[in-house]
Amino acid sequence: MSHHIVEVTHLQHIYPDGTIAIKDVSFCITHGESVAIIGANGAGKSTLLQHLNGCLEATSGQIRIGDTPLSKRTLPDIRRTVGMVFQNPDDQLFMPTVFDDVAFGPLNLGLEGMHVEKRVTEALTQVGAGHLATKPPYHLSGGEKKRVAIATVLAMTPDILVLDEPTSGLDSFARRQIMSLLKEFHHTKIFTSHDLDMVLDICQRTIILHEGAIMADGPTGEIFQNDDLLATCHLEKPFALQGCPGHSRDTDATKP
Ligand SMILES: Nc1ncnc2c1ncn2[C@@H]1O[C@H](COP(=O)(O)OP(=O)(O)O)[C@@H](O)[C@H]1O
Ligand SMILES: [Mg+2]
Repeated sequence: MSHHIVEVTHLQHIYPDGTIAIKDVSFCITHGESVAIIGANGAGKSTLLQHLNGCLEATSGQIRIGDTPLSKRTLPDIRRTVGMVFQNPDDQLFMPTVFDDVAFGPLNLGLEGMHVEKRVTEALTQVGAGHLATKPPYHLSGGEKKRVAIATVLAMTPDILVLDEPTSGLDSFARRQIMSLLKEFHHTKIFTSHDLDMVLDICQRTIILHEGAIMADGPTGEIFQNDDLLATCHLEKPFALQGCPGHSRDTDATKP
C-alpha cells in the first residue's frame, strides 16, 4: 500500500471558456498531515480542491487517494474517504432541518435508524451544534452554518478532510471555534485559506499556488519567512509574524 494518502500528478484544469486554472500541479500528502493551500484570489485554490473528490474532472493528470486512482468508477469510494466542505455552506445545506442535513450522508451510505442517529449526534456534538438539530439551516448564523456544514462531512467519517476557506466571513469567536475543531481532527486535513494566522497555527506544511502553478511547498514556518516569495505571490505575513501587538506567536508551526 502507498503511504501517500493523496497523490496529485501533473494536474491541469482548463475551464470550458479556455481559462487555464491549474497548470501541471503535482504533490503528495501522507497520512495525518495538515496542509494549507494558499494563494491570491484566482490562484486556482478552489479549482484544485474540487478535483480531490471528483467535483471537477481533470483536463489532464491523475489523482490517487490511497491506492485508488480517481475515476468515474471509483468516485463513490473516493467520496467516502475524502470529505469536502465547500466555501459557501449554502452549497452544502439543503434539507429542512440540520438533523436531516447531517443524516443525509450516512443514509446514503446505507446506514439506518439508530446508527444514523448516532452519527448525527456525534458529528453535531463535535462541532458544538447539538442544540441546532431541529432548526432549519436557513435560520442559522454564518458561523453556525459553517459548523453544520462541517458536521455533514464529519458524519461520513472521512479519512481526509478538505475545506475551502473554512473561516472566511466568520467573526473571531466563530473562527476560534472552527480552528479548535480542526485541531481536534487528527486525520489528514487539507484546506485553503486567506487566514494566514490560522494556517500558521494549524498546518505544518503549506503549498503556495500562484496563477495555477505551485510556487512553494514546504514547512509553514519557513514559507512565511520568505519575504520575496510572499511578495511575488501577493501574500502577506501572518500578523503573528509581523510583531503586531496583541498577536502572540502561539503557533505549532514555528515552535522548535
Ligand atoms: N467556472 C469557471 N469558468 C471559467 N473560469 C473559472 C471558473 N471558475 C473559476 N475560474 C477561473 O479560474 C481561476 C482560478 O479560480 P479559483 O480556483 O476559484 O481560484 P481561487 O480559489 O484561488 O480564488 C480564476 O482565474 C477564475 O476566474
Ligand atoms: Mg476559492
